[in-house]
Amino acid sequence: MGGHRIAVIGGDGIGPEVSFEALKVARSTGVKLETVEYELGAAHYVNTGEVLPDGVLQELKGFEAIVLGAIGPAIGSKEVPSGVLERGLLLKLRFDLDLYVNHRPFISPSDIELSPEKRVDMVVIRENTEGTYAGEGGFLRKGTSQEVATQGSVNTRFGVERVVRYAYDLASKRERKHLTLVHKTNVLTFSGDLWSRTFEEVGAEYSQVEVAYNHVDASCIYMVENPARYDVIVTDNLFGDIITDLAGAVSGGIGLAASANLNLNRTGPSLFEPVHGAAHDIVGTGRANPIAAIRSAALMLDFLGEVDAAQSINKALEIPPPAGMSTSAIGDFYAERV
Ligand code: IPM
Ligand code: MN
Repeated sequence: MGGHRIAVIGGDGIGPEVSFEALKVARSTGVKLETVEYELGAAHYVNTGEVLPDGVLQELKGFEAIVLGAIGPAIGSKEVPSGVLERGLLLKLRFDLDLYVNHRPFISPSDIELSPEKRVDMVVIRENTEGTYAGEGGFLRKGTSQEVATQGSVNTRFGVERVVRYAYDLASKRERKHLTLVHKTNVLTFSGDLWSRTFEEVGAEYSQVEVAYNHVDASCIYMVENPARYDVIVTDNLFGDIITDLAGAVSGGIGLAASANLNLNRTGPSLFEPVHGAAHDIVGTGRANPIAAIRSAALMLDFLGEVDAAQSINKALEIPPPAGMSTSAIGDFYAERV
């Protein structure tokens, strides 16, 4: 065997189907991948009561990368309380593996006719280990009429600086060399101030990058009316969660949106996953679009130094699949073209 050692967490719903196609296409580049599958997710939790055992987390740390399909129970299912898998599995991996950059590229498909202001070619860089996701907060007098719930936002200079630096670096290597900070500095005057100062100070090292600032609410208007204005965006964890769903929706649908959760220090594996969820309603129908997963695999190959293989997948993806193709047919279509 040999090759890159990759852990595969297919997960729930369409997760296993799309990650299967992604690995098929990745392997068709000739790059050798030695994969080990891990059964984790909603079904596994319901069957065993396990979310992410410590031993499994330790094993995962030994891989070069993790391919994740999708995690989550069917909507309306009562078997998995909200937050158990999100906090216990996906966010735990992001935090414990220190995957501090969530890199989410969006490109409009070439076969859709669009006016120039609507053609998307952007990357959203979402801070991935802090903000409201850090889990600060708690209850007082829970369940009473005087109940108090707080949910803080954690922003460290270190955490903000490293993700801002990554975004500048990326912008400086792209054709447009444009970077927008998205935040809500007019209301979040503490965290917003830290973000703006850091953005400005790091920016002094990147004079070739043109910068802009948008409030997050305004950025939602621009995202719909004129997404072409964006090249690279950097933003905090929660704003990044929200605007990347919107960015997916305006660039051909969430079925195309890929993501790389990166530990740039390479002290452990990085994790690659489509932005979409488990879509239990279409499991086994062949209607799941594997393109987001395939694109995520290309991000993985690129991060593993297999730059030519990644490029050949991205080049192949420039041609949309014929309409009506099934999940596996789309996988075959791209596997033949790389
Ligand atoms: C995402 C998802 C996750 C998030 C959920 C599943 C915890 O929505 O990757 O965007 O909120 O980050
Ligand atoms: Mn999300």
